[in-house]
Amino acid sequence: MELDLMLRLLLIGTLVSDIWTEDRPGSMRSECLGNFLRITLSAEYFEDKYLSFSAVDQFGIAWEIDEAMASQCGYTVTYSYWGNAEFRASALSCHSQSEKDVFTVTIQIKASHTPDMKNAATHLKSASCHYGPWSPRELICEKNYMEVSVRREVPQTVHDFIQDEPEDWALAFPEAKTGESSIWQIVFHQPEEKKALLVTDAWHAGYGLNTTDTRILLRIPYSAAQIQLVKARGITFSAVRSSTFYKQRWMILMVDTAVACPVDGVDYTNKTITWTVPKYIQPLSAGATSFKDVLVEAGVDLHKLSAKEMVSRKYSLSNDLDTITIKIPIGAEGGYYKTSVNSEQYGAKYSINLFLEHQWEDNKWGLTKHTIIKEIETPFEHVELAITNNTNLSTRLMNVTVGMFLPDVELVNLTFEGATVTVLEAIQHGYVTHENRYANGSKTYAIQVPFDAASIKKEYTREDIRTYTLNVTLEFIIHPTSDTFTIPVITVSAVKDAVLPSARGFCNERSLYLIITRGNVDQNWLPFISNQHLTPEAAQKYNYSLSDNGTHLAVCVPFLSPHVDFEDIHPSGITASLHLTLKDGITLANRRDFSISCRFSPSELMQCLPNGTVVITAVKLVGIADVDTSLLVLRDRQCKPILVTEKTATFKFNVNTCGTSRTFNSTTMTYENDVLYFRPGSDMPVYQLKCVCWYTIKQTVDVQYESKNNPVPSIKPGFGSLALSLKLFKEKSFSDPYKESEYPVVKYLREALYFEVELLQSEDVRLELNLEDCWATNSQSSDSHPQWPILINGCENSEDSHRTIFHQVIYSPRVKFPQHLKRFEVRMFAFVQGTTLLQEQLYFHCRVVICSTMHQSSDSLCPRRCNPGKHRLDRSAESHLYGQASSGAVLFKKEKVTGRGEYVDF
Ligand SMILES: *[C@@H]1O[C@H](CO)[C@@H](O)[C@H](O)[C@H]1NC(C)=O
Ligand SMILES: *[C@@H]1O[C@H](CO)[C@@H](O)[C@H](O)[C@H]1NC(C)=O
Ligand SMILES: *[C@@H]1O[C@H](CO)[C@@H](O)[C@H](O)[C@H]1NC(C)=O
Ligand SMILES: *[C@@H]1O[C@H](CO)[C@@H](O)[C@H](O)[C@H]1NC(C)=O
Ligand SMILES: *[C@@H]1O[C@H](CO)[C@@H](O)[C@H](O)[C@H]1NC(C)=O
Ligand SMILES: *[C@@H]1O[C@H](CO)[C@@H](O)[C@H](O)[C@H]1NC(C)=O
Ligand SMILES: *[C@@H]1O[C@H](CO)[C@@H](O)[C@H](O)[C@H]1NC(C)=O
Ligand SMILES: *[C@@H]1O[C@H](CO)[C@@H](O)[C@H](O)[C@H]1NC(C)=O
Repeated sequence: MELDLMLRLLLIGTLVSDIWTEDRPGSMRSECLGNFLRITLSAEYFEDKYLSFSAVDQFGIAWEIDEAMASQCGYTVTYSYWGNAEFRASALSCHSQSEKDVFTVTIQIKASHTPDMKNAATHLKSASCHYGPWSPRELICEKNYMEVSVRREVPQTVHDFIQDEPEDWALAFPEAKTGESSIWQIVFHQPEEKKALLVTDAWHAGYGLNTTDTRILLRIPYSAAQIQLVKARGITFSAVRSSTFYKQRWMILMVDTAVACPVDGVDYTNKTITWTVPKYIQPLSAGATSFKDVLVEAGVDLHKLSAKEMVSRKYSLSNDLDTITIKIPIGAEGGYYKTSVNSEQYGAKYSINLFLEHQWEDNKWGLTKHTIIKEIETPFEHVELAITNNTNLSTRLMNVTVGMFLPDVELVNLTFEGATVTVLEAIQHGYVTHENRYANGSKTYAIQVPFDAASIKKEYTREDIRTYTLNVTLEFIIHPTSDTFTIPVITVSAVKDAVLPSARGFCNERSLYLIITRGNVDQNWLPFISNQHLTPEAAQKYNYSLSDNGTHLAVCVPFLSPHVDFEDIHPSGITASLHLTLKDGITLANRRDFSISCRFSPSELMQCLPNGTVVITAVKLVGIADVDTSLLVLRDRQCKPILVTEKTATFKFNVNTCGTSRTFNSTTMTYENDVLYFRPGSDMPVYQLKCVCWYTIKQTVDVQYESKNNPVPSIKPGFGSLALSLKLFKEKSFSDPYKESEYPVVKYLREALYFEVELLQSEDVRLELNLEDCWATNSQSSDSHPQWPILINGCENSEDSHRTIFHQVIYSPRVKFPQHLKRFEVRMFAFVQGTTLLQEQLYFHCRVVICSTMHQSSDSLCPRRCNPGKHRLDRSAESHLYGQASSGAVLFKKEKVTGRGEYVDF
């Protein structure tokens, strides 16, 4: 774990400043572990800080340790799983001071919150360790370097044979430093060649060389150029074979400083770590012929373990003839799991820091001590995470637990609906997270979200069930590497809380209405009527009304619309239905159907206008599929619709035409026709819609002499009405009637009154209006008394002294249908009783009969008339249509009467 150590290569050391922070108790801990000193910086204090380490020499100068310097000088900085930083120094590290068998290391640590090390707190730590006795040869395989130190020995034979001529020495070997002892040069044995480096060159190449009172030291980083990879029993070693030449008094001596460290030999099968180290490998045993194991010991984190401890931890250490094998069950005590992510998969790796110490004797070196520190990490292993659903329906809370996680994991962010928020920000969106820690440090995370949070997807499934989907991605960070990984969490809960849309329908005379009350599942459902998506545009196109206020959707459709179905026709009305379907907004699957069915009055399909025009709309009923509405005809098959839609055909015709038949009875006149459908080539209709117009004469006609030219027809279902008028004209020419404003009309006694009775508006040429009885009253009511008959059964009143005169009616621009009018002339008179003039005003009334001028089987021919022939009306058994008309008031002008008066007396 070579982390973001803030190391800078300092070529020049700096004097340790006087200001440094007192160590917090427990923030640093030093241990002497054989030929190592270890200083542990507690995570509690140093986590999340940028650290820099410097070695402090005997003069108080701090030398900053960077990677290259660390491997050259025998320092190691690592981070442990718990976030602790660990500093190790070899007993022979560059700036350690040795005295007898005690070495002292002083380091300066700077800790800052920022990478530029501003405002760094400085700590100074010094520790001394006893280590000894030293073996003639000691080999160390550290994480970042190999180290060999050998005892300096002066051959006994030359010990006394020494001259004091230092200048001569310097002259002969200028490169070899002066002084008691020093290394002169180093020769590397490589397969092809031997390479000699002087001390300064070796330093520049990254090697660490030094001599102590008793030892020659060589330290080699694993990246050194002269390293060879050699195999022994299938295990690869990183090895350097070298001879170091050093000056000892006035001699140049040579010593074998070969070193070798295993780089592999770890196997992970069978849930076990198997570490195999071959013994007596060639580079280290060159020149020796007999070997004897002295000690094989192993341990964890530089602590040696007794055989008993090994057994209790299920470790095994076997020392065979050629190899040492250590077996550790993966997961065993001493190591730890750490979170790892591989191809987006969550998993773990087991790590353990083993070390092995092997001491042997041979006939070349005597005792050799080989210490190997081995950080082992198992390959990635996928770990299944459990996502537990603790959703509580009663509290309407999604509650999901995710775990187990190792202690090095921390939940930092949540992503839902495409947005990433931190754990704290998520609370505002309803997402509450809890960390649950267990005794062994592992933890689970619980996420709680109310059902009603906006990001919980709600979906209608069936019946009264809605599903709530929690879809959140959790983002975790792994300490201390700051690697991240994500875990998607999708939980679905089915809840019985769906409220389906409901509908209410009603109709008025012309339209069908549906009002849909929205539920909680139909936000995205679309209204369709007969496969037509009812958008505002469609509604406008078809003249439907559509309103949606969020809670209610209201639709109003006129009943003669393309999307209305006609189910049956009956004399009492036509049944029309509107079907509305709510479809899923995405799949368009039908979700809910609603319909409203109403019976509409036939008058909506048929208009019988006073002038004899009939408008009929024939509709295609559901179930009569193959009717082509454009081929519908009337009785006269020449009469075709004026307007055709897919379901309707509208005909407009005059009762004179299209084979319309007519019958009378005393109160009504009936026109009849049929809308027919013939299959091509067939004379038998397959569809027949009988349409009947009944016309009656408005009995309470308040006929005004000057009525509006075309009174607005009042239409009744299936019925028409005919209007009559009785008007008074100014002259015999019958061209100028009295206007409404001229009433009451004032007339002298015996002055001529010109009356015209008319069947208004009708354009049926086959109709004739005949007068039956006409009479005068002195009040507005036609049946008030006294009455004076003017015409009786169509003939003049023979008792009248001034006989009524008929006037012929001929065609004129005003009179298009002379047969619809009768004219007669009477003389003004007055009612008297005794000598008293009863009333000053008169009203005239006529009862008329409307009959046919042509004989048709269904018609009754008009009875013979009195005028001009003076025959009595022959009241046949046949029925006719009778009606009555009245005039406005005519006033009698007294002055003229006086003295001359002719009175009608009763
Ligand atoms: C060599 O070792 C001596 C102590 O024996 C020490 O004072 C000196 O700093 C070391 N030199 C280097 C370059 O490591
Ligand atoms: C795996 O371990 C079991 C139990 O220790 C042992 O019986 C088995 O032989 C081992 N298998 C391998 C391939 O090492
Ligand atoms: C969520 O579920 C966990 C595990 O069952 C439970 O301990 C916790 O109380 C629940 N939280 C809520 C708010 O219901
Ligand atoms: C969950 O959300 C992601 C991103 O928003 C989306 O791609 C995915 O389809 C969703 N999954 C479900 C089951 O809704
Ligand atoms: C968490 O989200 C924030 C933004 O909300 C982002 O800056 C940060 O990088 C995210 N952290 C991780 C570990 O994804
Ligand atoms: C989660 O729990 C709720 C309530 O117990 C239940 O309705 C739902 O079906 C569960 N979901 C899953 C995916 O098990
Ligand atoms: C929506 O319209 C319905 C009837 O059409 C009415 O009863 C309801 O109060 C309206 N709601 C709102 C929020 O306007
Ligand atoms: C009868 O009256 C209607 C409505 O007033 C009118 O549309 C129609 O043209 C008239 N018919 C004739 C033959 O004038």
